[in-house]
Amino acid sequence: MRSQTKQGGEGSVPLYMELFKLRQLKASLLCLLQLVFCIVLLLFPTFSFYVQNVTILYLHLYVIFAGCDASVLLDSTPGNPAEKENIANNPSLRGFEVIDEAKAELEAQCPQTVSCADIIAFAARDSAYKVGDINYKVPSGRRNGWVSHEDEPTQNLPPPFFDAKQLEENFARKGFSLDEMVTLFGAHSIGVSHCSSFSKYLYTFNATHPQDPSMDPKFARDLKAKCPPQLSSGNGGDPTVPLDVLTPNKLDNKYYKDLMNHHGLLTSDQTLLSSPATVGIVRYHARNDAA
Ligand SMILES: *[C@@H]1O[C@H](CO)[C@@H](O)[C@H](O)[C@H]1NC(C)=O
Repeated sequence: MRSQTKQGGEGSVPLYMELFKLRQLKASLLCLLQLVFCIVLLLFPTFSFYVQNVTILYLHLYVIFAGCDASVLLDSTPGNPAEKENIANNPSLRGFEVIDEAKAELEAQCPQTVSCADIIAFAARDSAYKVGDINYKVPSGRRNGWVSHEDEPTQNLPPPFFDAKQLEENFARKGFSLDEMVTLFGAHSIGVSHCSSFSKYLYTFNATHPQDPSMDPKFARDLKAKCPPQLSSGNGGDPTVPLDVLTPNKLDNKYYKDLMNHHGLLTSDQTLLSSPATVGIVRYHARNDAA
């Protein structure tokens, strides 16, 4: 996106408003949209429909974590690599061209009125409806940011190896409660992760256990078949596997059932079941099919 296409709308919705909105929705799976980890690559080659929707959900989530100002859409300028280029985002965060297209159409019909930050929020709402039948209202008025630094995501996004305590601290800095945090993790009900984000737990866990003993052995075996050790260390690329093995293309509560089955893909997923502070919330969502 060229920076001159970025114009703020009227008024402004700061991050705390976004959080307030989330708070009101905390019981709903909808909030699940709001979490992205660096490792998530949104790749459903056979379902272009899903590619767009899932991609946009994660884009929105990322944007919320990074300040709700759509600065991730900005391209690098000489001497200043942008957020887009951070290892957490490139090549995982995608869908920029969808926002660019929507912005171009809006500018043609109604110049300088709808910000890109709003477009991302609206597109995420529509995507949630398409992949999860979830409907929610989105206020408008976010303003676009003009500043984008490559190192910003590293300071904000929780990495996939965080345990529950570290996650709690990270989310608390953004004003989220434990309850909200676990709900937001439900965004992992869709999307995929690169093997490199978890292959350590399959092959080089520690000196006594090459494989993480907390992982279901059969699940680990399946993952190893999809993520051979040589692939994660270079040639052959870095394949992806679904974050939610039960219903990878539907935004629902099956992610929590995965955790109950010890089929959480990332440390930061499975830790929600092993931590006493969050296990009750995981159980609640796993039981509550209508959530
Ligand atoms: C490896 O991890 C297991 C399980 O967490 C633990 O019991 C064991 O002590 C660890 N071994 C080493 C050498 O750290």
